[in-house]
Amino acid sequence: MKTSIFFGLLSAALVNASALAFRGFLHKVKESISVPWMGWVKHSAAHPDTMLQLQISLAQPRSGELEQHLHEISDPSHRRYGMHLSKGEVHELMAPHADTHKIVDDWLAAHGINRTKVKQSAAGDWMMVSVPVHTDSEESLIRTLEYSLPEVLHDHIDILLPARPRSDGAIDPSCQYQITPDCLRQLYIIGNYTPSTSNGNAIAVTGFSDQWANYVPLAVGSNFSVVSITGGTNNQTDPGSEAKLDVQYAFGLTRPMPATFYTIGGFPGEPPNVNWTFGTGTLDFVDFVLNQTNPPQVISTSYGEPKTSNSIPLSNKICQSFAALGARGVSVLYASGDSGVGYSNGTVIPFTPVFPASCPYVTSVGMTYQIPEVAGNDDGIVSGGGFSNYGYPDVSAQGVNYFIECYGRAVNNTGTSCSSPAFAAVIALLNDARTQAGKGPLGFLNPWLYSTGFAGLNDVTEGSNPGCGTNGFNATKGWDPVTGLGTPDFGKLKNLALA
Ligand SMILES: *[C@@H]1O[C@H](CO)[C@@H](O)[C@H](O)[C@H]1NC(C)=O
Ligand SMILES: *[C@@H]1O[C@H](CO)[C@@H](O)[C@H](O)[C@H]1NC(C)=O
Ligand SMILES: *[C@@H]1O[C@H](CO)[C@@H](O)[C@H](O)[C@H]1NC(C)=O
Ligand SMILES: *[C@@H]1O[C@H](CO)[C@@H](O)[C@H](O)[C@H]1NC(C)=O
Ligand SMILES: *[C@@H]1O[C@H](CO)[C@@H](O)[C@H](O)[C@H]1NC(C)=O
Ligand SMILES: *[C@@H]1O[C@H](CO)[C@@H](O)[C@H](O)[C@H]1NC(C)=O
Ligand SMILES: *[C@@H]1O[C@H](CO)[C@@H](O)[C@H](O)[C@H]1NC(C)=O
Ligand SMILES: *[C@@H]1O[C@H](CO)[C@@H](O)[C@H](O)[C@H]1NC(C)=O
Repeated sequence: MKTSIFFGLLSAALVNASALAFRGFLHKVKESISVPWMGWVKHSAAHPDTMLQLQISLAQPRSGELEQHLHEISDPSHRRYGMHLSKGEVHELMAPHADTHKIVDDWLAAHGINRTKVKQSAAGDWMMVSVPVHTDSEESLIRTLEYSLPEVLHDHIDILLPARPRSDGAIDPSCQYQITPDCLRQLYIIGNYTPSTSNGNAIAVTGFSDQWANYVPLAVGSNFSVVSITGGTNNQTDPGSEAKLDVQYAFGLTRPMPATFYTIGGFPGEPPNVNWTFGTGTLDFVDFVLNQTNPPQVISTSYGEPKTSNSIPLSNKICQSFAALGARGVSVLYASGDSGVGYSNGTVIPFTPVFPASCPYVTSVGMTYQIPEVAGNDDGIVSGGGFSNYGYPDVSAQGVNYFIECYGRAVNNTGTSCSSPAFAAVIALLNDARTQAGKGPLGFLNPWLYSTGFAGLNDVTEGSNPGCGTNGFNATKGWDPVTGLGTPDFGKLKNLALA
């Protein structure tokens, strides 16, 4: 889990950009937060003349309907179970109302912005525009505590964000890899299960913050392709251990299933895209996947940040985008974090849920260790969990002392970063078994896990996740906010998934 790189490093200017220069409308504060994000300090008022590139998130009147579809097609007891939606259907459910387009277009036109010059996302829910703003320094990151919009637009616009570049490059080298996850095969009853290479199933992991995977020449492993989103890097001479871990376990356990490593460009405060945040990078990644006709059915991400890093509308937007992925039949898994109930190193502070692991539409994976398994707590690396709007994690898997091959040497890796790709691999194998039985992918997992799949998980009842100067929560019989419903038993899960 690479949470720490997303906060604490920023020491940037917070400028007053609240008075966006849209003329002729009655303005009203649309969104405000009381304190700056961690690491940000208030700087100076912005210069009025500079152009600000903004992304506008338009209201999505059918988001409730999208969630309803998701619940129905993810619920094993529903007649529509497994009837996932197409790219076109999901984009339609994400689309803003025609009236919203009309009023926003009129508003832009009133300020001399030609609608035909405005870029938009594939579903039409995002628009990219340039408007006059207040900013003074090229080096400053522009953030504000509040912004105003004409009141007539409040119901039509959900979020305004500084723009980020979108360059969908694709690099497709593929290679073979050496992976040795034999203990997981034994512990989780995977045995020698070998999925098809060509029945349509695929798995993917994401890499953020300059983490990318490389190919080991002597590999006896999977082939995977690398897809770069918004200029993500893929420097073969300088791979990151996070990426190597994800690739070696998620893809090692599922070889020879087709596999994709998504490398997502951007790092907080790093030129050229100083406006990048982990939240906007996550949206870039999800938008990209939603625009695929056949997206990978399982995607694991081992990154996160404290829930407070994003505004509530932006958090909601990100969680909604996972609902859309679920509706497409994609299982989205996130590591639950490595700091127990929170990030304080001593003093008691409010518990800090990790995001997006705490989104309702992802499956959050906590960490265990030892055999028999105990909630993971090794040398300060503690399974993340607790309560947000929803308790998390949902499930767990081993996460301590994973051997990975790094520069030709075996090294240890510990954290929920290990657990998420391992659990994701099990789900990908279940999808393979379902395909062979003529069934579709499991898609959004939680309704199935909580109603059916839990019986195929090993309940973990020992250990806890201390943090914030407290003992955190104990692992207990049944679900608990440390190890969720438990760790996988592939044999049992397969029977349940094929029933
Ligand atoms: C970052 O945001 C500022 C202000 O909105 C904008 O002028 C600049 O072009 C943005 N940078 C990039 C790389 O998008
Ligand atoms: C907007 O741009 C299009 C294409 O460049 C052009 O045909 C149209 O006349 C423009 N509209 C206005 C109002 O300038
Ligand atoms: C979505 O995909 C289509 C083709 O599949 C492509 O033409 C279009 O540019 C993509 N849209 C975005 C916003 O990436
Ligand atoms: C790749 O990484 C190596 C080692 O860190 C570095 O010397 C090289 O400049 C990098 N290449 C690119 C294209 O960034
Ligand atoms: C990897 O791809 C190469 C070339 O496409 C192929 O020859 C090889 O069999 C593949 N290996 C696996 C494990 O699928
Ligand atoms: C706890 O965190 C604070 C603030 O980051 C730091 O100054 C302090 O050294 C840390 N204490 C320990 C024991 O790690
Ligand atoms: C990983 O840690 C375990 C337990 O400390 C140790 O036995 C093992 O040798 C370590 N492996 C590597 C490659 O460092
Ligand atoms: C957690 O377990 C410890 C050790 O068994 C016990 O002392 C403690 O009371 C438990 N805490 C809660 C909240 O149940």
